[in-house]
Amino acid sequence: MLKNKKIVYFCQECGYESAKWMGQCPGCKAWNTFAEEAVSTVKASKTGDKKQEKRQEPVILKNISLSEEERQTTNIKELDRVLGGGIVPGSLVLVGGDPGIGKSTLLLQVCRNLSDKGTSVLYISGEESLRQIKLRANRIGTFSDHLELFCETNLEVIRDVIERKKPDTVVIDSIQTMFHEDISSAPGSVSQVRESTNILMQIAKGMGISIFIVGHVTKEGNVAGPRVLEHMVDTVLYFEGDRHASYRILRAVKNRFGSTNEIGVFEMRNTGLEEVKNPSEFMLNGKPAGASGSIVACSMEGTRPILVEIQALVCQSNFGIPRRTAVGTDFNRVNLLMAVLEKKVGIRLASCDAYVNIAGGMKMTEPAIDLGIALAVVSSSRDIVIPDTVLAFGEIGLSGEVRAVSMAGQRVAEARKLGFQTVILPEACRSSIGKTEGIRLVFVSWIQDAIQYIMKE
Ligand code: TYD
Ligand code: MG
Repeated sequence: MLKNKKIVYFCQECGYESAKWMGQCPGCKAWNTFAEEAVSTVKASKTGDKKQEKRQEPVILKNISLSEEERQTTNIKELDRVLGGGIVPGSLVLVGGDPGIGKSTLLLQVCRNLSDKGTSVLYISGEESLRQIKLRANRIGTFSDHLELFCETNLEVIRDVIERKKPDTVVIDSIQTMFHEDISSAPGSVSQVRESTNILMQIAKGMGISIFIVGHVTKEGNVAGPRVLEHMVDTVLYFEGDRHASYRILRAVKNRFGSTNEIGVFEMRNTGLEEVKNPSEFMLNGKPAGASGSIVACSMEGTRPILVEIQALVCQSNFGIPRRTAVGTDFNRVNLLMAVLEKKVGIRLASCDAYVNIAGGMKMTEPAIDLGIALAVVSSSRDIVIPDTVLAFGEIGLSGEVRAVSMAGQRVAEARKLGFQTVILPEACRSSIGKTEGIRLVFVSWIQDAIQYIMKE
């Protein structure tokens, strides 16, 4: 069955090769990392068959024309932005995420939009029956004739169908259900996933078909098949969100055709995923008025400023070791900021429990939210209510200085758009902002200045 192929075992951590399976890798001493893989035994001749092979010459960069690289829009603006401006023909896009987050729904909506424009689309599902897909499609809306469905998991059959039908776009749902006959391990194993992706990549590059691959996420949060997938595809998108909240965030983790820090925000409705045009407004929904321990901060997600409410609860600890938790942001960063407050501002926090939460379930790690976290902690521990028309951003250094952050002007503009009246921001951003009307800017150089300001208010 295996023509010119033999099975070897590779350590998934360090790449150590072995003829038989081993429990511990002799190379890196990691346990349980060996996975089988089929390797080709036909050596590619070094000199090449000169008569057959056309000689390849290097090309001048300037002379490469880009006309064929034109991107295709999906008519879903949030997705287009994350992709870097639309789908690049012949690209391989991996969409990862927890089960039930809405990957199949999103891709079915992409299929609908593309097929409505006359692009031929083939949706290949290894997970659901035609009936199940039809039921989902009914909730999303009506579909044109250009979308075809196919339920199959054998990649040789799939390759054959793609070669016959020559669609412009293919969706594979999901890579973990696909298998190749030549490999004996079960679908979803590392070698199957790698081989399947390899075949899909050849199809994408060879025929210029854009392929979307759905990948499930393991408990650790990686796409199953440790990282092998991420290296092979052009773009890796993660679909994340709180299962209990209705909004979903699409994040680019890798993108060969665009920036990786863009996010797209969606809301799950009963008619499928809906774009959220103004995420800040969405995130600030339900912010309590007149409560201490709460302030709005601003984080840049790609080119977009997003406003979020930061909440803190500081209370006396009943145990020797105080409890600290951070939800939606970096735990160590919160500890660091509390240490700065203790040492540089003189607020006693060592015997206090502290809980910091980014409301709405978003995850933010940009240092610009430091000032917001620090002010929320102070507000809670001193029981001061910060007016809900105040917004703060700025990075805090270890000496308690408030440091400059990028794109201050855009953040201020977003705050003004949403009706904030005062922005507390780093002094160092003064020159980059210029003249702003309709909003009060409070420039601070030290964390103490910001605290003084909120105490006065
Ligand atoms: P699905 O796309 O099947 O998730 P995945 O492919 O990532 O596993 O989405 C499943 C969830 O989405 C399911 O819990 C139901 C919900 N949903 C809606 O709320 N509205 C809809 O219109 C659709 C199609 C799904
Ligand atoms: Mg699915």
